[in-house]
Amino acid sequence: MSSLAGKRVLLVISGGIAAYKTLELIRRVRERGGEVRCVLTQGGAQFVTPLSLAALSEDKVYSDLFSLTDESEMGHIRLSRDADLVVVAPASADILAKMTHGRADDLATTALLATDKTVLVAPAMNLRMWDHPATQDNLATLKGRGVLSVGPNEGDMACGEYGFGRMAEPAEILAAIEEYFGAGAPLAGRRALVTSGPTFEAIDPVRFIGNRSSGRQGHAIAQALARLGARTTLVSGPTALPDPAGVETLRVESARDMLAACQAALPSDVAVCAAAVSDWRAKETHGQKMKKNGAAPPGLALTLNPDILAQISAAGNARPRLVVGFAAETEKVIEHAQAKLAKKGCDWILANDVSQGSGTFGGDNNTIHLIDSQGVESWPRMTKDEVAAKLAARIAETLAETPESTKP
Ligand code: CTP
Repeated sequence: MSSLAGKRVLLVISGGIAAYKTLELIRRVRERGGEVRCVLTQGGAQFVTPLSLAALSEDKVYSDLFSLTDESEMGHIRLSRDADLVVVAPASADILAKMTHGRADDLATTALLATDKTVLVAPAMNLRMWDHPATQDNLATLKGRGVLSVGPNEGDMACGEYGFGRMAEPAEILAAIEEYFGAGAPLAGRRALVTSGPTFEAIDPVRFIGNRSSGRQGHAIAQALARLGARTTLVSGPTALPDPAGVETLRVESARDMLAACQAALPSDVAVCAAAVSDWRAKETHGQKMKKNGAAPPGLALTLNPDILAQISAAGNARPRLVVGFAAETEKVIEHAQAKLAKKGCDWILANDVSQGSGTFGGDNNTIHLIDSQGVESWPRMTKDEVAAKLAARIAETLAETPESTKP
């Protein structure tokens, strides 16, 4: 699996001759499975063209704060949030100063001020500008706020002088990005398990009991946890979705297969049960296709399936530190979900309304109420990807209070 599979890098390119090296950086990040979205400052555009960046990143290049199209396609706030790491390369003396002072006078600085993600800067400037106490103080302030930096290196400069100020090489910046995702990401060193999709319970070789779950919410959660650095296993029932990048995906059919796969992959950190597990299965399955043969329709005797969430919650020493379930309800959503929290023994329940007309099952959006022993927190209606990102961030905050997993 590529080291950056599924990771999204927002790359800010500010003014400097080193901007040409950024093209190589984009290529290398993408080679390792990462996605790159570029924000080009006016200064940066003097050195590289949006066309080169768009061709290499295979994405639109963002540059204009007040462009109607940029804003309607992707607001600057979303631009800064829909990334796992923000990289500024080259980082000019000017952009470091603006970041230090919280200036937001173009798209790049606005995104940098609005982001809630880690920022990695690769400074590049003339050696005197680099040596100047203003630049050194700015960088020290930024580092104090958690900004990471790589370089600059010593060497010949484009201006003919020799000294510190050359931007780190693309390979070094790439190594810093990989190190961040390996060790610095909020869920680095953590292990996560997610269940997703429906289960199919065979009646005979061609018929089954199933449900309308698309798996979108569970898959999005697995992707979001992996993007925050967690080593994530997704156990999925039958869905039409592709396997999320950077996630180990195990495909199963029935509830019993899903339980077995989960038990074999139980992590010590977090399990999120988002699958719509069939509550029942046929008591008896037929080895051959059942024939009509003019007979009356057969009765279908059912038996209860194992409750995967309840079993994970009751796993004793093997229980993940945090167990999260969903409650799909069509009425009295919060009341029923609170009862489910107690019954299943999990730590959080994300309750959602799946009544007809809510558009949740199979749809893009979800309205969530996060329920724990302390109370209820209702989230605004948002996309399933946004729910996933918010949940992953919340999981990271909660696990940050506990030591890292020691499990192999
Ligand atoms: N769940 C599970 N195994 C089951 C049934 C449910 O792991 N056999 C999990 C789901 O993944 C979800 C939670 O339990 O996280 C609640 O699922 P839901 O269908 O809302 O509840 P049920 O337990 O099926 O209860 P009911 O059908 O009575 O509402």
